[in-house]
Amino acid sequence: MEILTDIPTPEKCVSQILEYSGRKVEPQGAQDMWHKILQHKWVLSEKLGRDVGTNVSCLDFIENIELKDHASQDLEKIQFLKKLGAVRVDQDIWKTISETQPPKKIVNKRIILPFTEAKLAQKHGVMPPRALIFFGPPGTGKTHFVRAIAGVLQWWYVEVSPSDLMADGQDRIGTNLKKVMEKVGEMDNVILFIDEFEEIAGSRDDASRIDKSITNEFLKQVPLLKKQNKRNLLVCATNYIEQLDAALLRPGRFDCIIPVGGLDAQGRKTIFEHYLSNTNKGEVDVDKIVSMISLFTPADVEYLFQKVRQVTFEREFERKGNCLVTTETFIEMIPQISPTLTPELVAEFEMDCERYTRY
Ligand SMILES: Nc1ncnc2c1ncn2[C@@H]1O[C@H](COP(=O)(O)OP(=O)(O)OP(=O)(O)O)[C@@H](O)[C@H]1O
Ligand SMILES: [Mg+2]
Repeated sequence: MEILTDIPTPEKCVSQILEYSGRKVEPQGAQDMWHKILQHKWVLSEKLGRDVGTNVSCLDFIENIELKDHASQDLEKIQFLKKLGAVRVDQDIWKTISETQPPKKIVNKRIILPFTEAKLAQKHGVMPPRALIFFGPPGTGKTHFVRAIAGVLQWWYVEVSPSDLMADGQDRIGTNLKKVMEKVGEMDNVILFIDEFEEIAGSRDDASRIDKSITNEFLKQVPLLKKQNKRNLLVCATNYIEQLDAALLRPGRFDCIIPVGGLDAQGRKTIFEHYLSNTNKGEVDVDKIVSMISLFTPADVEYLFQKVRQVTFEREFERKGNCLVTTETFIEMIPQISPTLTPELVAEFEMDCERYTRY
């Protein structure tokens, strides 16, 4: 404590550390580091039985202690992330999403650019978001978008589902959630993705909820995570935005609530062409097929390709001649798939968009 009262201003600490060790440190952490240097001076002096100068202690601290400290902290963080199943994602996923596919433009402007163009964002007082929700019908690409963001930013991607959090018992969800959020909150360059968010953060009025205290834990943890000045993101996804606890949806908790809905013709075409490129194809009238699948989600398009590929595979096996996927194969298979989206679901989603969207 006595030592702390002698700590100079952050600017003075920066210049002293620079003068003694040649290392330029950020003003935010400079006082804390100066405090550690003074402690190190005391330890060194005790060890050597003489008063070691502050300049020598500073140099020794920077060269020997701080570097090791960083290295072991980094190792510990990486081990923790790996235990959670953290992965690196290919940067190219982002490019495979059509520019017109909502919410690509929003995600780019509101989430990616404030991190990649940090100086410009700061100049304009734009704060990068730290906590967001994606909502929308099943198979529309919520997970795909989160992975794409991790890829484009080249951050760790950590996905946690309610079942992971309750792996060692339902009564541990709150504790596990706290631990994960606290740890990840201290790290840079990580996306923490919590899928099926309504399972753990549903309305506290709903009697069937697993544990109401978990929503309370979220209400505590989200502001704590945001308070830390780190480059990380919490993303939660749900198919049922209306089931989330109203307190979580209020401004101040999540920075953005972004809908991920159906595809326009260009969006469907891009995904269609992506899958077509890996298919044993003949003549395919892409525009014609794309116009026939207006209520298909990306997951439905993927399933359509699974079907057409399987059928040509089987036909070639039976007939032995080269069997190609053509316009006719799609026309034959489309009626066998009921699209996830229905006019009713689309109308409901549009109402949710009006009610909840915020970015
Ligand atoms: N451009 C694209 N946009 C979205 N999804 C795509 C795209 N291209 C391919 N897909 C694929 O569509 C499938 C469905 O996407 P995803 O799993 O992200 O949906 P989701 O909204 O998370 O679904 P759920 O609500 O069931 O979790 C995935 O296999 C994904 O890889
Ligand atoms: Mg998903």
